[in-house]
Amino acid sequence: MCGIVGAVAERNITTILIEGLKRLEYRGYDSAGLAVYTQQGQLERRRRIGKVSELETAVTAEPLVGNLGIAHTRWATHGAPTEHNAHPHFSGQDLAVVHNGIIENHESLREDLKGLGYAFTSQTDTEVIVHLINHILKTVPDLGDALKAAVKQLHGAYGLAVISAAQPDRLLAARSGSPLVIGLGHGENFLASDQLALRQVTDRFMYLEEGDIAEILRDQVTIWDQDGQLAQREAVQYHEGAEAADKGTYRHFMLKEIHEQPAVVQRTLEGRLTNDHVMVQAFGPQAAELFAKVRNVQIVACGTSYHAGMVARYWLESLAGIPCQVEVASEFRYRKVVVQPDTLFVSISQSGETADTLAALRNAKELGFLGSLAICNVGISSLVRESDLTLLTLAGPEIGVASTKAFTTQLVSLMLLTLALGRVRGTLEAGVEAELVEELRRLPSRLGEALAMDSTIEKTAELFADKHHTLFLGRGAQFPVAMEGALKLKEISYIHAEAYPAGELKHGPLALVDSDMPVVTVAPNNELLEKLKSNLQEVRARGGELVVFADEHAGLTNGEGTHVIKVPHIIDALAPILYTIPLQLLSYYVAVLKGTDVDQPRNLAKSVTVE
Ligand code: G6P
Repeated sequence: MCGIVGAVAERNITTILIEGLKRLEYRGYDSAGLAVYTQQGQLERRRRIGKVSELETAVTAEPLVGNLGIAHTRWATHGAPTEHNAHPHFSGQDLAVVHNGIIENHESLREDLKGLGYAFTSQTDTEVIVHLINHILKTVPDLGDALKAAVKQLHGAYGLAVISAAQPDRLLAARSGSPLVIGLGHGENFLASDQLALRQVTDRFMYLEEGDIAEILRDQVTIWDQDGQLAQREAVQYHEGAEAADKGTYRHFMLKEIHEQPAVVQRTLEGRLTNDHVMVQAFGPQAAELFAKVRNVQIVACGTSYHAGMVARYWLESLAGIPCQVEVASEFRYRKVVVQPDTLFVSISQSGETADTLAALRNAKELGFLGSLAICNVGISSLVRESDLTLLTLAGPEIGVASTKAFTTQLVSLMLLTLALGRVRGTLEAGVEAELVEELRRLPSRLGEALAMDSTIEKTAELFADKHHTLFLGRGAQFPVAMEGALKLKEISYIHAEAYPAGELKHGPLALVDSDMPVVTVAPNNELLEKLKSNLQEVRARGGELVVFADEHAGLTNGEGTHVIKVPHIIDALAPILYTIPLQLLSYYVAVLKGTDVDQPRNLAKSVTVE
């Protein structure tokens, strides 16, 4: 997960590049660099290991002044975080490239280019891009045309920017699987992997689409689509704070964050999938080597993140055949743990600063785990810094104390982990990964369909407004989804909510069921549906009122005391992600009816940095 900034202007662009990199640093980086076309008519570069401030110090000591430049903060995937591996990468003295993503065929391209006499100075996959463009420029002298020809040879994911000392008025960019945005100024234009980097210089943006190539001049932007046709991309005015500090048109941050889920899930998937598989390198440079040795997984987390881990256990065992244990961090850290050989320690956390989760990771390092992976939403967090591998969930800042988009992006990340581990270990059934990759690509639009249930759920919420207790039921991977639904309801509406695996109902909680205790159930159309239907009968027979979120093909219908809300059909493996949405909406609307403080519920905190 790297960051890109580029600029072409009349003024000196060095400070703009550095400021842009600083704004991207929240995602967590290990080295940074920039290349500027200077007043001396040449490309000059500075690169440093560590934070952007190290690069800034270097540029202050030896200033670079110019009107065209590109910059990068790196999150190492190929090659360690060293200065040689830091971007921009050069081919000769005249051509520089920065790149986000992973070029999967870099090894064969590297061999070909070496054969043609190009000398490599880094272990990165990126360096093949710059030499490849340089080579094509020998027969195709226009930089834009050379870039178009070069990307045809690249397999994998990229968002990249190129500048050439021979054509110093142009900044070229290409996007496939890794986002890029153009910032539109007056007599100056900019490029970045995230608009956040450019808010200091503009509030007008143009988002590149998959396969786009862009030529950015000081006073003109030209875009070609994936078929090489000239394309128009809408210029969008950005309102300060729209992403984080502002609720926009929403009444609460929680509702805004619930509705952001299709977009952030899309972002979590960007650059991490090929046509038919998950890129293992997305977890870090040593992931492939480490994953190959994994025979067990231990997941540790708190709160909502723990529920994500519980879902992942079903996935890891049923899809990838890898034994998995899940435990809340505050138990794990104080328990004498017996570690199975070759166990990967996986921590899950939105903030990356939760005290118990961090302490559990630190303990784990003493216990002989194979290695550690953090699934986390904050790149500069302690959890990320202290783990061997990381997958950022990329949900963006979450303001509502009750976690919503952080949870669904954690689930998506854990599905990526399941598929990556399963493939590396050779334990996935044939065709499973390709099918799930295809379904994952459709997931954002499926989540959008689930959000369209909003007004139906708002009405259903009225059933709960005068209740003091509720029961949530689910089976299989939907049991943790029921737990998360119950947690949401208790967090923000203060209604007592318990979740049970539906099969446990008759072993105790059935004694509580009466007309004052609504029972919420998630019912996808899977092999457990018939068993679940029997559990629902058990509730109805005791006068309990049922609210059932059921697959549209599940054959469940409204009846006396039974409210069925149809959920669009989805492949069973991804059902936990989809069914989370109606439960989030239900708790939200119940809380609104009760008039509680939805975004800052009593007694709770967003980030629990105390034990
Ligand atoms: C607090 C928050 C929860 C969150 C939990 C774990 O309790 O209110 O929403 O799930 O901490 O936080 P983490 O940042 O580690 O995911």
